[in-house]
Amino acid sequence: MEHKTSETPVALIMGVTGMAGFSLAEALKDPAALGGPWKVMGAARRQTPPWFPPSLLDSYISFDALDTKDTHHSLSPISDQVTHLFWVALQVGPNEDTNISSNSTMLKNVLTTLTSSTPTSRLRHISLLTGTKHYMGPFDDPAFHPKGRAIPLELPFREGTARLPYPLFYYSLEDLITSYSPKLTWSVHRSSIIIGASSRSIYNTLLTLVVYALICRREGSQFRFPGTRYTWEHFCDVTDAGLLARHQIWAATSDGTKNQAFNCTNGDVFTWKSFCCVLAEMFGVEAVAPVDGDDRDDDVGGF
Ligand SMILES: NC(=O)c1ccc[n+]([C@@H]2O[C@H](COP(=O)([O-])OP(=O)(O)OC[C@H]3O[C@@H](n4cnc5c(N)ncnc54)[C@H](OP(=O)(O)O)[C@@H]3O)[C@@H](O)[C@H]2O)c1
Repeated sequence: MEHKTSETPVALIMGVTGMAGFSLAEALKDPAALGGPWKVMGAARRQTPPWFPPSLLDSYISFDALDTKDTHHSLSPISDQVTHLFWVALQVGPNEDTNISSNSTMLKNVLTTLTSSTPTSRLRHISLLTGTKHYMGPFDDPAFHPKGRAIPLELPFREGTARLPYPLFYYSLEDLITSYSPKLTWSVHRSSIIIGASSRSIYNTLLTLVVYALICRREGSQFRFPGTRYTWEHFCDVTDAGLLARHQIWAATSDGTKNQAFNCTNGDVFTWKSFCCVLAEMFGVEAVAPVDGDDRDDDVGGF
């Protein structure tokens, strides 16, 4: 059920030049977007990349969200306009403590400016994108990657599953946005590996595999799956960035969706083995299985 209001909704996509951010801009500018027509503002640290269509945004702001003064200076002028904050910014450091500190600082700086720098703040909803690390823990921090998992993964992942006893920046961001309730509503969106268009993302699985395939073709070497044998053979899922964007807009504009966390994946599954065979055929390379010796104990995250 779509919730209709008379005021024009104004979205601020924080991290608009990233993989999730670009698809959100596309989806919000779609004339059929729920809750629309939207005024769409985008922000990121650097200027937009050359391929980013300016028509997707009504305005673009470049600032460093880690810097409190820069954030305040850049966002104060629009703080009486923004009704919906879509949080898809990301900073990845060498360990999870750093991730918690940097990502929390960015979100706090933006929320403080949007809610406190004007007596007429219109902000009413925060949409936070996280991911399945919520259920798997900070698997890329060596400090939390014991040989053989400390906690077995229970599949399927359910939104109500208790948090893991590990520090994770997703948990910190959730705690931050829920602290604004009931003044603001929120929704959390937990995606799997995202497949979308981006040239700057820290995590871009598809582009990384394609570049690897191109290097293999150039070098005349085999395309050896850079994961474990377990991952190669077992089912995985992904999340299409366009679907994810529409999911976020739906939750931001509909009745009965507020103050909840949602998983969001395509709903079908595949094996990396079958995927790599398709990729190998497309790029004219020979796909081969991971080297023997990889086993399930080493398998964390997607790879
Ligand atoms: N990619 C995936 O496969 C995947 C899978 C599951 C979950 N997720 C989650 O989805 C969320 C979004 O990920 P993503 O892959 O879309 O991110 P991304 O492509 O790496 O984009 C990050 C965005 O944040 C901006 N940003 C970073 N630091 C900033 C700063 N200090 N000030 C202002 N803007 C800043 C970047 O701009 P600059 O480049 O200019 O810094 C960029 O626009 C994250 O929480 C991530 O963990 C991603």
